[in-house]
Amino acid sequence: MSNNKRTVYVNGDYVPEDEAKVSVFDRGFLFADAVYEVTSVIDGKFLDFDAHTARLERSLNELDMPMPMTRDELLDAHRQLIEMNNVQEGCVYIQVTRGVADRDFIFPEGIAQTVIMFTQAKKLTGEKKGLRVISTPDIRWGRRDIKTVQLLAASIGKTAAKKQGKDDTWLVKEGTVTEGSSNNTYIVTKDGKIVTRHLSNTILPGITRAAVLKLAAEQGLEIEERPFTIEEAKDATEAFMTAATSFVTPVIEIDGTQMSGGIPGPISLRLNEIYIEEGKKTSI
Ligand code: PDD
Repeated sequence: MSNNKRTVYVNGDYVPEDEAKVSVFDRGFLFADAVYEVTSVIDGKFLDFDAHTARLERSLNELDMPMPMTRDELLDAHRQLIEMNNVQEGCVYIQVTRGVADRDFIFPEGIAQTVIMFTQAKKLTGEKKGLRVISTPDIRWGRRDIKTVQLLAASIGKTAAKKQGKDDTWLVKEGTVTEGSSNNTYIVTKDGKIVTRHLSNTILPGITRAAVLKLAAEQGLEIEERPFTIEEAKDATEAFMTAATSFVTPVIEIDGTQMSGGIPGPISLRLNEIYIEEGKKTSI
């Protein structure tokens, strides 16, 4: 798998990545005035494509921006990109900015949006390693339900984890875990319940989260949507996280406390298998 010299999409054109250009006055660059989506690919097909498209539209609408293209145009561009880049497994990112205008805080009107898309070839299926996480303060803004490109806080948290030799961070606000740097977070209690934070402005409504909770319920697992603390997580029998770029990923350590005996827990692994199985059945 290689991401060398990809072809990327820029405002309707497919161009080599080193020739792709956006303006220095793009509001995505100057104000993080932009949203994005990422959809995974297995066997050359997209998982949960329509749910990602719906969330893209919602994120845009929350910021008074329209969808730049129809669902079918979006799917066509996604398909063209994975074909041109020969991606069988990985993901496609779409980034939509308000557009290019002279620097001014007030939203400009009547400008064309900037739309870029690119692929990342990546192994998503196969053996799951458990991750070690640390907790760090959630210093992000108050509308985390919108998938904006303001990812600096997440980047700071994940870099802090890396510096400590760990894999990721779970973000804590007012004593409870909101989510991971780029994933939703879960614990499995001693009596077998899956606990994950309820939807609100404090977290991104994960597309993988919705799919996994539905599958878990179908498996007869009880689900509690509520905040939980790091202390409760450390005391849980399993912990895991979900994201389109990593599906269901077991957590084997939280702030130095080993989880599920230091190996991926069975419920996390089973949910990952089921998610991939079901995802393949409905991929397009
Ligand atoms: N991130 N929470 C945050 C803050 C995220 O950035 C993401 C995804 C999720 C999981 O959402 P989903 O299941 O729809 O991928 C939760 C993507 C993968 C990224 O930034 O690359």
